[in-house]
Amino acid sequence: MGHQEHQHKTDPKFPKGFLWGASTSAYQVEGGIENNDWAKAAREGKFPVAGISCDQYHRYEEDFAIAQSLGHNAHRLSIEWARIEPNEGEFDEKEIEHYRLILVSLQKHGLEPFVNLWHYTVPIWFAEMGGFEHPDASKIFARYMAYVMTRLGGEATFWLTLNEPMVFASAAYLRGKWPPFKKNFFKFIKIQSCLVSAHNLAYEMTKKISPHTQIGIAKNNIYFASDGRWWNDLAKLFMDWFWNERFLNAIDAHQDFIGLNHYFYQKFGKKEKLPQSDRGWDIFPEAIYHCLLELKRYRKPIYVSEHGIADEADTQRGEFIKNYLCYIKKAIDEGIDVRGYFYWSLIDNFELEEGYTKKFGLVTFDPVTQARTIRPSAFTYKEIIENQSA
Ligand code: BGC
Repeated sequence: MGHQEHQHKTDPKFPKGFLWGASTSAYQVEGGIENNDWAKAAREGKFPVAGISCDQYHRYEEDFAIAQSLGHNAHRLSIEWARIEPNEGEFDEKEIEHYRLILVSLQKHGLEPFVNLWHYTVPIWFAEMGGFEHPDASKIFARYMAYVMTRLGGEATFWLTLNEPMVFASAAYLRGKWPPFKKNFFKFIKIQSCLVSAHNLAYEMTKKISPHTQIGIAKNNIYFASDGRWWNDLAKLFMDWFWNERFLNAIDAHQDFIGLNHYFYQKFGKKEKLPQSDRGWDIFPEAIYHCLLELKRYRKPIYVSEHGIADEADTQRGEFIKNYLCYIKKAIDEGIDVRGYFYWSLIDNFELEEGYTKKFGLVTFDPVTQARTIRPSAFTYKEIIENQSA
């Protein structure tokens, strides 16, 4: 490794104003949500139970204070649709007030809010009418977003409509692992256009209500590579288009920034043996650099809206964050407009179909006492952030 690259590795300096934070989602951290499709599936024994999780619904002040103490200046979270609209067309002002207090608390702790409107879960009534497959789904989703924007639009600049639509489409409609547990290629394709319409309409309505807002989605992009054999090159090109680009192309006129969620590296052909996380996912820091370069074509600001590792022992996380950040910096040096980084996750949480068995948090918690403990890697991340102003 050359001297310059070594400098990168130890001391990446990011542009002024760069946002540093962590990310969560409502159902994974809030606790006490019983009226969405995931909670229903858990009652039916199809899933682990989320229960009270780390009870962030009540402990957000404490958690935001921790984030602030760790040097963060931004935070991404989501609003639970089922809380806001528990029955079709019936909106709960108390819950709106709850989220307003959350946004006020973020500001108080110096954390720029990134607010996500949908992170996989939907109210049971919406699931029962067919979810995003329903012909009026985009109108129903946009109505929910418009309602939230009317009440809370002034409290935050950055809003995300959807989290990882392609991951949802494949887990819920192809692999049959998430509600509504379907395995149907035709529906897998169809649901993607439904989500595009939902996003585009929500974007248009939101811009009318709160023109100052910046709106995007969080898109899970994978670094696809090939061993150089022509058929593997073709597979790579196809997947770049099919998984990474197609959805973003379809919403291109309706996004102000791109949220990149990055976790995966997939190589067609013979793959090197790589270190892995507790989830069995390969660790390959260079992957994020390639994903960022691929986004250049959209000419939009990019925020890394999620990136993280399951590492209960916390032996890999610090280096993991550092090494990936070096590659993010390399992309910035090559002209990619990356403006923020949100580690997934601030705190251990309900890891979807894995329940509480996988630990992504900078912070862990005791499920009985709810006491928070900051992991050492959180201080590694803090040091990187603090070095920026040194
Ligand atoms: C999702 C999170 C999830 C994380 C780790 C992301 O794709 O947005 O909800 O916890 O992956 O699996």
